[in-house]
Amino acid sequence: MGWSCVVARAVAFILMLGKISAFTSDIFAAGKSDKEILDNLLKNTRYDKRLLPPVDGVLTVNVSVLLLSLASPDESSLKYEVEFLLQQQWYDPRLRYSNQSHYDYLNAIHHHEDIWLPDTYFIMHGDFKDPIIPMHFALRIYRNGTINYLMRRHLILSCQGRLNIFPFDDPLCSFALESISYEQSAITYVWKNDEDTLRKSPSLTTLNAYLIQNQTIPCPIKASWRGNYSCLKVDLIFTRDRAFYFTTVFIPGIILVTSSFITFWLEWNAVPARSMIGVTTMLNFFTTSNGFRSTLPVVSNLTAMNVWDGVCMCFIYASLLEFVCVNYVGRKRPLHNVVYRPGENPVTQPKRESTGAADLVSCTACTGPPGSCTHTANNGGVSEVRKKEPPHPIRVAKTIDVIARITFPTAYAVFLIFFFIHYKAFS
Ligand SMILES: *[C@@H]1O[C@H](CO)[C@@H](O)[C@H](O)[C@H]1NC(C)=O
Ligand SMILES: *[C@@H]1O[C@H](CO)[C@@H](O)[C@H](O)[C@H]1NC(C)=O
Ligand SMILES: *[C@@H]1O[C@H](CO)[C@@H](O)[C@H](O)[C@H]1NC(C)=O
Ligand SMILES: *[C@@H]1O[C@H](CO)[C@@H](O)[C@H](O)[C@H]1NC(C)=O
Ligand SMILES: *[C@@H]1O[C@H](CO)[C@@H](O)[C@H](O)[C@H]1NC(C)=O
Repeated sequence: MGWSCVVARAVAFILMLGKISAFTSDIFAAGKSDKEILDNLLKNTRYDKRLLPPVDGVLTVNVSVLLLSLASPDESSLKYEVEFLLQQQWYDPRLRYSNQSHYDYLNAIHHHEDIWLPDTYFIMHGDFKDPIIPMHFALRIYRNGTINYLMRRHLILSCQGRLNIFPFDDPLCSFALESISYEQSAITYVWKNDEDTLRKSPSLTTLNAYLIQNQTIPCPIKASWRGNYSCLKVDLIFTRDRAFYFTTVFIPGIILVTSSFITFWLEWNAVPARSMIGVTTMLNFFTTSNGFRSTLPVVSNLTAMNVWDGVCMCFIYASLLEFVCVNYVGRKRPLHNVVYRPGENPVTQPKRESTGAADLVSCTACTGPPGSCTHTANNGGVSEVRKKEPPHPIRVAKTIDVIARITFPTAYAVFLIFFFIHYKAFS
């Protein structure tokens, strides 16, 4: 009995071994882990990562860009930070594994060093935003040998704005992709699906950056300095926040200039009030404009801003000068030879000087003995002068004010209309 028992046990044991071995070989047959498959695929007897994927003709790399975030340090900057995912897709027949595994794709992130990758670099003005390390990327190999290489990039682009019409310009930022070592006959970059637009992430975040237009194109032949290399270009056109500039520059400027016009409605001889208005509006304008300019790029061709500051300053200064003129004219004594008859007083002045007083004042200005004063001689022409009736200085001063009340605001309004239309501020 014991003998048969031992045989039965031995048979059971052998069966069990067979099961185990069948089970383990099943694992390997059905598919190893994706890392093991990759180890097999990338054995250096069958894969040399230094060689281009052996495809018929030119290797095509399909490229797409997915925007993640756009930012600019401040409203008037020409630097834009662009963060995006760059996807490159190509076909490497050496990496097909369709009859080895049920995996849809192999995650090759840990075999990054062992796989042929295109040597794509960026042509741009600007910089890479730190940190480039850790590099964020994904590397997937599909059954049919398609490789999908995804990486995150963060660029700081120096863009081109037309500063002569700042702040109504639309800065253009562009960057391009090119292979550093393979000519067009070896590698061609194309935009995936021939899309001519950028995709944006659903969670795209923006800061001070207003993207209005984008395009993805092959590099124009003229622009590329290495004619024989395949190259793709991305253009991003931003705009500036008009409301920001209106609230910080233009509306305060308009308020200061129109405040300086208040002076024309005050009495011609209100010296403290009128000089205070003139000087404070001028100083305020300087302060506002300097404060704003300290944030601008330091370049000489800020034409629109220079025109704005210059013309506003001229208006404020001119209204201050107008006050000085009016006050000077108004304080001038009437000419000694102007004689008003009692009923013809053109200006109702409570303390009007008599003609005699005027003569006296004029004569005291004469040097020499009183008898030698020659002004009395002019009194002979009184009738002639009386015909002309030159206006009284105070009336002249008031007239200047009245004219200024109309001309200054009109001229300023014309300037504003011209300025904003010429620089297309509302387009
Ligand atoms: C690249 O895109 C073209 C269509 O534009 C397509 O025919 C081709 O299969 C794509 N290649 C890869 C590797 O995805
Ligand atoms: C897939 O199977 C065929 C034969 O069925 C074989 O010739 C080929 O080498 C296999 N592919 C790989 C990647 O092992
Ligand atoms: C390879 O497979 C991927 C994913 O299944 C697919 O998107 C791609 O079009 C395929 N490429 C070719 C050349 O068949
Ligand atoms: C790029 O422009 C196209 C229209 O030209 C638009 O459909 C697309 O959403 C834009 N992309 C981004 C990221 O704004
Ligand atoms: C580009 O390639 C052509 C031939 O393919 C050659 O004649 C030409 O010199 C090359 N140009 C440059 C800039 O390498």
